[in-house]
Amino acid sequence: MAIERTLSIIKPDATRRNLTGKINARFEDQGLKIVGQKRLLLTEAQAKKFYGVHADRSFFGELCAFMTSGPVVVQVLQGEGAVAKNREIMGATNPANAAPGTIRKDFAESVEANSVHGSDSLENAKIEIAFFFAETEIVE
Ligand code: CMP
Repeated sequence: MAIERTLSIIKPDATRRNLTGKINARFEDQGLKIVGQKRLLLTEAQAKKFYGVHADRSFFGELCAFMTSGPVVVQVLQGEGAVAKNREIMGATNPANAAPGTIRKDFAESVEANSVHGSDSLENAKIEIAFFFAETEIVE
């Protein structure tokens, strides 16, 4: 399988509970390398733009409010089949449906406060990485 990069976000519910290290260990222990990382407080404009694809959904306002409610850690994960691998490590969006041993099963509080975001395709990964990172901020 090809080496890929994917965008990950450790969400405010997780940074609030000091879970960044525990979540990073899940990625590293399962073969993904963190090749870019920064802690940010998203602006409302950034959150709305990043989640623009969900603008028509009923939960859009709450999602943007939540994502700006505290620090996030945005990161670039690299490894073989990184997009699918990260989605496997995260587990299902709703923690009630997440498999045992996944980040969302173990840490998420709800479908909104679900601890992590990960790109859903290689195409979107490229767009989402470019949203937060300059090439010079990604170091193998
Ligand atoms: P994420 O992978 O960041 O992509 C979009 C987010 O919308 C998703 O994770 C959830 O946190 C959030 N989301 C999806 N469905 C709902 C919902 N029904 N209510 C609130 N938030 C939701």
